[in-house]
Amino acid sequence: MDHLEAFLNFAEQSPTAFHAIANLKEALREAGFQELKERDPWIVDEGGRYYVVRNDSALIAFAVPRGGFAPFRIAAAHSDSPTFKLKPHFEDTVEGAYLRLNVEKYGGMIMSTWLDRPLSVAGRLVIREGEKAVSRLVNLDRDAVLIPNMPIHFNRQVNDGYSWNPQVDLLPLYGEGDAAGKLMKELAEAAGADPEAVLAHDLFLYSRQPGSIWGAEDAFFSCGRIDDLECAWGCMKAFLGSEARDAIAVCAVFDNEEVGSLSKQGADSTFLYDTLTRAGFALGASDGEIRAAMADGFMVSADNAHAVHPNHPEKYDRQNRVYMNKGVVIKHNANQKYTTDAISDAAFTLICEKAGVPVQHFANRSDTPGGSTLGNLSNAHVSLNTVDIGLAQLAMHSACETAGTRDLDYLIRAMEAFWG
Ligand code: CO
Repeated sequence: MDHLEAFLNFAEQSPTAFHAIANLKEALREAGFQELKERDPWIVDEGGRYYVVRNDSALIAFAVPRGGFAPFRIAAAHSDSPTFKLKPHFEDTVEGAYLRLNVEKYGGMIMSTWLDRPLSVAGRLVIREGEKAVSRLVNLDRDAVLIPNMPIHFNRQVNDGYSWNPQVDLLPLYGEGDAAGKLMKELAEAAGADPEAVLAHDLFLYSRQPGSIWGAEDAFFSCGRIDDLECAWGCMKAFLGSEARDAIAVCAVFDNEEVGSLSKQGADSTFLYDTLTRAGFALGASDGEIRAAMADGFMVSADNAHAVHPNHPEKYDRQNRVYMNKGVVIKHNANQKYTTDAISDAAFTLICEKAGVPVQHFANRSDTPGGSTLGNLSNAHVSLNTVDIGLAQLAMHSACETAGTRDLDYLIRAMEAFWG
């Protein structure tokens, strides 16, 4: 549990992908990493340590060994989580008595977990500053809205499985009939800007409920966005604690995994390919040498896994099932939703063995499609041996998820061994 308090603090300070990336950037800067801008020429030195940010919501950090150009050893996780996004015009007055917000779903959340829970608003505002438009992080950081349930008297079937309509059932209440303009005023103030100067926004709902450690022997913890901030933070922690020796160490955190990764800042973009090739050329490597370094490289795609649910153990494969606090999970899927094959499984198992970290294997029941992640999409752009891993958790995509308190340390130890 050494690192859990620090992780819970990070998760609380990272209500959106923008905040997660800003916080990881800060940690990299403090550790002496230097920012490279995609629009500028790059100077990359042997022994140098750098990071590149795209869209303020995705980041790739890399460390070059003293010996210079070398094969790539990559970890990848994601910064985003399912939530609700405010539409461009988000104010909707109801009968002159209420002001509710017009939002749309981002990703596949468990909708019922978002109801009757005070929520806040965070994201980024783009603000007019003279002739320029500048982006500012914003976090209201107060309970400001709530999506109320219907009373059971008007919805008798609510406990028999209810189909939530996001345009009808899931619009949050913000104020009374005279509250028009007040939310943007609050947000602009929180960002230190004039509300009139706000040109555009990317704003999301989030729960301010703090993380909690609970259960016998403090076995479990709960908070929002464990998927995938736990792997993003754990990989970065190990990356910052490692020294690049015989490989270029790369730690990537992509956005938009929850909506299919197909964006300029997602895993299904050129971001990783662009970064690796530009780093290689800046180090004097040829095109052929860069391709060889990819072929000789290895990637760990880290995204959380499903622990057996205590009330539904029948939903999980009988032989390939995983539990919280029982170690890092290697994920398998014959249809390549997960990239793991015998070669990458064996390689990662040996790394965990060296680190003294227990390993578990996950596969879905053959009659259950299961989820997907970013490894196979990233592989279509940068093709190299890859293993899909994660930590076992419950209630994935709930507004409040649950995981095991001992697993984060296992991930960090395994990833330190990977880069060490
Ligand atoms: Co995930």
